[in-house]
Amino acid sequence: MKIIFDTDPGIDDAMALAYLGAHPQAELLALTTVFGNGGVDITTRNALYLTQRFGISVPVYKGAHTPLHLPAPTPAPHVHGYDGLGDIGALQGFAAEAEATSAPVRIVELIREYPGEVTLLAVGPLTNLALALELDPGITGLVKEVVIMGGAFGWGPRRGNVSPVAEANIINDPHAADRVFTAPWPVRAIGLDVTTQCIFSTAAAQALAETGGDTGKFLFDISRGYEKLYRERDGFAGCALHDVAAAIAVFEPQLFDYAKGGVRAVCDGIALGQTILKQDGLLFPPGAWDNLPSQTVCIAVDAEGVLGTYARTI
Ligand code: BDR
Ligand code: CA
Repeated sequence: MKIIFDTDPGIDDAMALAYLGAHPQAELLALTTVFGNGGVDITTRNALYLTQRFGISVPVYKGAHTPLHLPAPTPAPHVHGYDGLGDIGALQGFAAEAEATSAPVRIVELIREYPGEVTLLAVGPLTNLALALELDPGITGLVKEVVIMGGAFGWGPRRGNVSPVAEANIINDPHAADRVFTAPWPVRAIGLDVTTQCIFSTAAAQALAETGGDTGKFLFDISRGYEKLYRERDGFAGCALHDVAAAIAVFEPQLFDYAKGGVRAVCDGIALGQTILKQDGLLFPPGAWDNLPSQTVCIAVDAEGVLGTYARTI
């Protein structure tokens, strides 16, 4: 399966990349980077580092450094570390250059090169995808699927991780998210409803460290602070595999249940970054919820299936 991985590495982004790199059916065409878990210079350097560390041969294209219309978000080093990869010192002295082409341009080029074949897997703010849509609105009819980690739709215990109603990737660029959800291409959203059920325990991380070679050991090391945060802040029994769940959804859609309908992202006010699904079939007076493309959101997950798939693949 041809995949463009749009990412802001990030610890769970790194975990997702390791899965994609190990999956026999994943043909990674490009890594495109975006601000999010750090500034885009940091996330791009991390993407370059991770491809080398995991032995994945894929070009890296640098993308957006700010949201479409909002100021750059305040850094949150308590989640992924100052270096975006858990502050274990892995990146000291590392330097490499991304490709010369920008991420949104490369996204358009690849979709045009492989019409109907490319899955866009986006696990950071959706700015690069929105910019690609702006460059070439015609790509909507040429993409196989857009699978995103983002949002929360009211089916799970958590509706937000940055505010009571907003998930990080959406609130970091709500205008981009709204464009991506309302464009006429097939979007499947893997949100907090399901990702907060995919909890990676210490025992699972230890097993990965023992059986997963250098990659497994590295993922264990970078995720210690991340796991501690989830335990202490959220009371979880480990860390949430947000981006991993989205990557697994590309290959194992049967591990999830879905609802369909129009989706909007709130772009201002107290509910900034909230995602709202208007389920197909519900009738309201004419207005802003008419004529939206019917998108797909995940509402339930076989979490053991996701965790087992991850452990088996790496
Ligand atoms: C999302 O935000 C980032 O911190 C993670 O990498 C994930 O993509 C979870 O809300
Ligand atoms: Ca991410």
